Amino acid sequence: MGIKISIPKESADNELRVAASPESVKKLVAMDCIVTIELGAGIDATFSDALYKDAGAKIAKSFADTVKGADIILKVQPPNAEEIKDIPKKTLLIAMLSPFANKSILKDCAKAKIDAFSMEFVPRISRAQSMDVLSSQSNLAGYKSVLDAAEHYPHAFPMMMTAAGTISPAKVFVMGAGVAGLQAIATARRLGAVVSATDVRPAAKEQVASLGASFIAVEDDEFKNAETAGGYAKEMSPEYKAKQAELIEQHIAKQDIIITTALIPNRPAPKLITAAMVKSMKAGSVIVDMAVEAGGNCAGSKAGEVIVKHGVTIVGHLNIPSRLAADSSALYAKNLLNLLNLIIDKETKKISIDYEDEIIKGVSMTRDGIVTHPNFTDKPPTDK
Ligand code: NAI
Repeated sequence: MGIKISIPKESADNELRVAASPESVKKLVAMDCIVTIELGAGIDATFSDALYKDAGAKIAKSFADTVKGADIILKVQPPNAEEIKDIPKKTLLIAMLSPFANKSILKDCAKAKIDAFSMEFVPRISRAQSMDVLSSQSNLAGYKSVLDAAEHYPHAFPMMMTAAGTISPAKVFVMGAGVAGLQAIATARRLGAVVSATDVRPAAKEQVASLGASFIAVEDDEFKNAETAGGYAKEMSPEYKAKQAELIEQHIAKQDIIITTALIPNRPAPKLITAAMVKSMKAGSVIVDMAVEAGGNCAGSKAGEVIVKHGVTIVGHLNIPSRLAADSSALYAKNLLNLLNLIIDKETKKISIDYEDEIIKGVSMTRDGIVTHPNFTDKPPTDK
């Protein structure tokens, strides 16, 4: 008997993604896994039940039928309380659990004796790059944020010299040059914009320059030490933030479009654009606040809404990767497949998890009825 892998339909609002693609199902079936997909699970991501069936999956009618007898459940979002009741004990659940935002999820999984892996915690080491869901999803979100800006911007992006006159290129400023920000820079450049960017991590400077954008930042001693060992930004001091605000205030008044992506793990997103800065922009300008779900980088941005303030459109779409559900699902499914390759023994065709492996240590949240991840036990969180 092969390993039983189940993929339910996502039930959360604004979630169009699915945790398996026909391609990933085909690979799992080739590994002798028995794959069950809930009816219609891939429809919003362009994967029909017929495509999954052709790839070798069985189709089940409900969440309960899908997860019955499962050894492994693959999901995008955490299961809700009703779904948790249907998940058999000892099942391995692999999803993006967002445990910092979703405070009770780990305790709920532990109580239900579900062993949970959370994919956002794949460590940022080269061996794990093919499993890095933050990268696969943020990259697509960065691209989409520029298209969202273009949709609301009442001008063209590229410079156009026509018989009727010349159109100046759009000036795009990207705040936060991580995975999403770098893709936003590349996309805005491809559309013909003049692009600048800022970040608090010194490593970002060269990456921004290599994409043809100019780099704007306060480069003091604090900036030189602003990156954690895990590659993330640290929370900056109030003094640094004041200097940063002063520098970018002048710059923002001259921009047409701003894409903000700045995040700090386990902290609210830094406020980078004040109400006065919004007011300083020209009518018709657009701000896309990609950090809106973490509290937002821009004063006044509203989660799930597009608002207009002083003639400036502020876009606060939720779950941006889901807005490109076909690609984000396909890449997420591939990230999961790469992790499964690490925990499925090719010879015995059984689950074989090495809990000492650095990647497994990173993602493993609950095991045998207890919360095991050091960031979520009673000890203070570590600097991931
Ligand atoms: P993120 O999504 O946590 O944050 C987005 C960006 O906002 C980061 O670049 C961060 O430095 C920046 N930021 C934070 N506070 C700011 C402030 N006050 N002002 C301006 N910018 C601010 O970060 P993300 O995109 O997940 O990537 C972080 C780093 O990890 C990047 O250097 C990336 O290249 C690296 N990385 C490494 C991987 C690997 O080695 N396997 C895989 C993916 C990313």
